[in-house]
Amino acid sequence: MKLALASPRAAQFILLVLLLVHRERAAAVTLSTSSRWIVDEAGHRVKLACVNWPSHLEPVVTEGLGRQPVGNIATTITALGFNCVRLTYPITLATNASLSSITVRQSLLAHGLAETIGGVEVNNPGFLDLTLIESFKAVVNSLGENNVMVILDNHVSKPAWCCGNDDGNGFFGDRDFDPDVWVDGLGNMATIFAGVPNVVGMSLRNELRGPRQNSQDWYTYMQRGAEAVHAANPRALVIMGGLSYDYDLSFLDAMEVSVSFAAENKLVFELHWYSFSDARAWELENANEVCGRAALDFARRGGFLLSRGFPLFLSEFGADFRGGDLKDNRYYPCAAAVAAELDLDWAFWALQGSYALRQGVAGMDEVYGVLDWSWSKPRNETVLPRIQALQRPLQGPGYAEALPYTVLFHPLTGLCAVRCAATATTLELGPCNETDAWAYAPPASKLVLRDAAAAGLPCLRAEGRGQPARLSAEACGDALSTWRLASDSAMHVAVDAAPGLRGGGMLCLDVGADGRSIVTNPCACLRGDGGCDPERQWFKLITSTRRVAHKPATLA
Ligand SMILES: *[C@@H]1O[C@H](CO)[C@@H](O)[C@H](O)[C@H]1NC(C)=O
Ligand SMILES: *[C@@H]1O[C@H](CO)[C@@H](O)[C@H](O)[C@H]1NC(C)=O
Ligand SMILES: *[C@@H]1O[C@H](CO)[C@@H](O)[C@H](O)[C@H]1NC(C)=O
Repeated sequence: MKLALASPRAAQFILLVLLLVHRERAAAVTLSTSSRWIVDEAGHRVKLACVNWPSHLEPVVTEGLGRQPVGNIATTITALGFNCVRLTYPITLATNASLSSITVRQSLLAHGLAETIGGVEVNNPGFLDLTLIESFKAVVNSLGENNVMVILDNHVSKPAWCCGNDDGNGFFGDRDFDPDVWVDGLGNMATIFAGVPNVVGMSLRNELRGPRQNSQDWYTYMQRGAEAVHAANPRALVIMGGLSYDYDLSFLDAMEVSVSFAAENKLVFELHWYSFSDARAWELENANEVCGRAALDFARRGGFLLSRGFPLFLSEFGADFRGGDLKDNRYYPCAAAVAAELDLDWAFWALQGSYALRQGVAGMDEVYGVLDWSWSKPRNETVLPRIQALQRPLQGPGYAEALPYTVLFHPLTGLCAVRCAATATTLELGPCNETDAWAYAPPASKLVLRDAAAAGLPCLRAEGRGQPARLSAEACGDALSTWRLASDSAMHVAVDAAPGLRGGGMLCLDVGADGRSIVTNPCACLRGDGGCDPERQWFKLITSTRRVAHKPATLA
């Protein structure tokens, strides 16, 4: 920054502003809940748009320190639009002083990771002789300097890749999972980080599972863990995950959690969802049917908590970034549509492009990683917008600036239907923050783009197979402009076309061959066919009350 200073007084003023800005950035973020929303002290919604970053594998050294300077990783996280990190750790880091006091160098050496030591020496030389707990703190601080919030996630007890049914870390009472040690560990961790401003929450335990799991012990121990965290750090959100690999919070339907600090509004629940959570359904069955079922199941598994007045944090979801995995390709747009519709807080799995050591393999690649193997750049620029589309809040306290309106979200690309600047009567995929407000009344109605309606083009109309869907004033409300949400996924936006019209039968919104324009085509595999991919035709109608960032298209 270059400043031309007019006077010493101006210089003083600028210095003061800089100090204030700096102070504001370093200020503690204290979050709490307001019904289903996470809010700041002013009551304004803070949407968690996090990425997972592990420190729980055998060396207990935060991944990536051998690949890039920690400050660069932190700035990359913010540059990609994430505002928070779910940072994992093993409970022994907080309970076993002989482990937490060895140095990064010693731990890497003990795991035969000389190459990683060399990498840390180059990228983060100051870390090599820090103890494991100091190194972990330094990562949290670096994130804080970059204004990134942190949720500390107890991922395992004994450091290792997670998770297996029989790995001794699955449930209270398992070989390496002594509940008393765990409660102590949570309390210690909460104490250590109580004064660290950017630590906003603590996830009590990742993916409870295995033959011992039962909801009775879940209440007993999760409530104890929650009390320990809250007693040590009353500022922090206390985040509870479910059973069956954090796939199931349905038991809360019958009985609520009981904690002494309920009135402080700190309780949040977390849930995970991957393609493999739904067994092989995504590969074998019709994607619309699986998506419809999975969305209902999500509500049953934990989505219902939103209407009970608790935030639900989708703290792990993700997909193979190479694009070659059939089940991930079908699952991801479905999951993104659910996350967008419910405007969930979330944490993407994962940041890391590679691991120092995972499951015995040094330098293992992470195909779910936002970053590439070297941690130097995004793994796949094409798919980044699919995640970034979920970062903006759409509703909630502080975002109730407009009457509810509908957004046409295309989860496969992370883009939204916007008015084409060149024609003003057709649509294309564009940034979701530049979409104007649509009006739609399910189960079947006109689709009205407010801005276009004002310009005399009241409704969206199908004009035939492969033809652009067009904003028009013609016969609004007839068959060709009455849209309904077809298929179990409710993401096929369809009209019943007259038999005489080219491509008659049902026509669905689709993306044209140019990959950008919005056209109509015969609806793809509405049901039955498991060998067909409908995702290109998926448009999710979601509700927003956020003021439209207006970029009006002008009539040609
Ligand atoms: C504590 O950590 C040390 C060093 O890693 C290890 O040898 C020891 O077994 C651990 N103790 C417990 C109780 O886990
Ligand atoms: C990026 O993702 C797209 C879409 O899934 C895929 O077609 C492409 O091959 C991927 N590129 C790389 C480098 O993985
Ligand atoms: C929408 O977002 C894009 C990139 O995220 C940004 O460049 C653009 O200025 C935004 N538009 C508006 C109207 O805010």
